[in-house]
Amino acid sequence: MINAVERKIEQYIAELDDTKVSSLYKKLPKGKRLRTKLILKIAGNSLKAIKTASTVEMIHTASLLHDDVIDDAYTRRGKISVNASDGDKTAIMMGDILYSKAFFELTDISPLVAKVVSNAVVQLSLGELADVELSRKFHINQEAYIKMLYQKTASLMEASAEAGAILVGKNREAYRKYGRNLGIAFQMIDDILDITSDSKTLGKPALHDFVEGKVTLPYMYLYEVLAEEDREYLVSLHRKRLNEDEAIWIKSAMKKYKIIEKSYQEAKELVVEAIELMESMGERDLSNIAKAMIEREF
Ligand code: FPP
Ligand code: MG
Repeated sequence: MINAVERKIEQYIAELDDTKVSSLYKKLPKGKRLRTKLILKIAGNSLKAIKTASTVEMIHTASLLHDDVIDDAYTRRGKISVNASDGDKTAIMMGDILYSKAFFELTDISPLVAKVVSNAVVQLSLGELADVELSRKFHINQEAYIKMLYQKTASLMEASAEAGAILVGKNREAYRKYGRNLGIAFQMIDDILDITSDSKTLGKPALHDFVEGKVTLPYMYLYEVLAEEDREYLVSLHRKRLNEDEAIWIKSAMKKYKIIEKSYQEAKELVVEAIELMESMGERDLSNIAKAMIEREF
């Protein structure tokens, strides 16, 4: 049924009747369509569910187009990013077009679904702004980091799950919580992979987050355990284009103090909570989606 969502998005794009937009859209990598999976598992395959999933995916794609401009990222999902191939202006406008078309279609589904999803877009924009602000200088504010993750990534997953529940009259709060936990854990894992994966698997340069200024959970945990001199060294590497020795220093310090395991544990706790919640509700498929997120090597 994911195919039905792909066809619906293609239909929305075709309706824009613009050859540049159509060719840009064809070049975009599709991604895992995680939000679609949540919506369809919760709400089934009705036309409203397919439309909701399509608009959410278009909004998500729009946010990534903008994010790659903001992050100066030259790759996305292993492919050249639109800002790199066609320039920032095109990437921003393509994002705006996807976003506004999605909203136009969203109003046709249900006022409540439109309200829930549009509120999430406000949150994800606030989250991206917080991410930029937090990246300016080294910090160890875990609370601010988690709030930013919630806004930037979890808000749209939370809204996807809630929108699915609204469409079929299920318990909104339970599905919101599931989506929220999954979203925060997903972004925590994305932040861990920036440290553990090589640039080929990642589709972007490794340790890019720290170079960009992003102090993710592993860096905060590492700072906490380091002695004063090493703390200063770590802070001196923040926002710096790292040479090989510096990158190796960060990775070995993370290894020495088992920082990845500790960070992964944080994400796992949220996922386990989501799994238990779904199992208690008899939602086996949704619990399996959560399980798949933590059944991987780091
Ligand atoms: C990826 O984070 C970014 C997001 C999940 C959200 C970005 C949101 C915006 C740019 C606001 C968009 C606004 C509208 C109106 C559509 P990341 O950079 O940590 O992850 P990455 O590794 O995937 O780049
Ligand atoms: Mg990014």
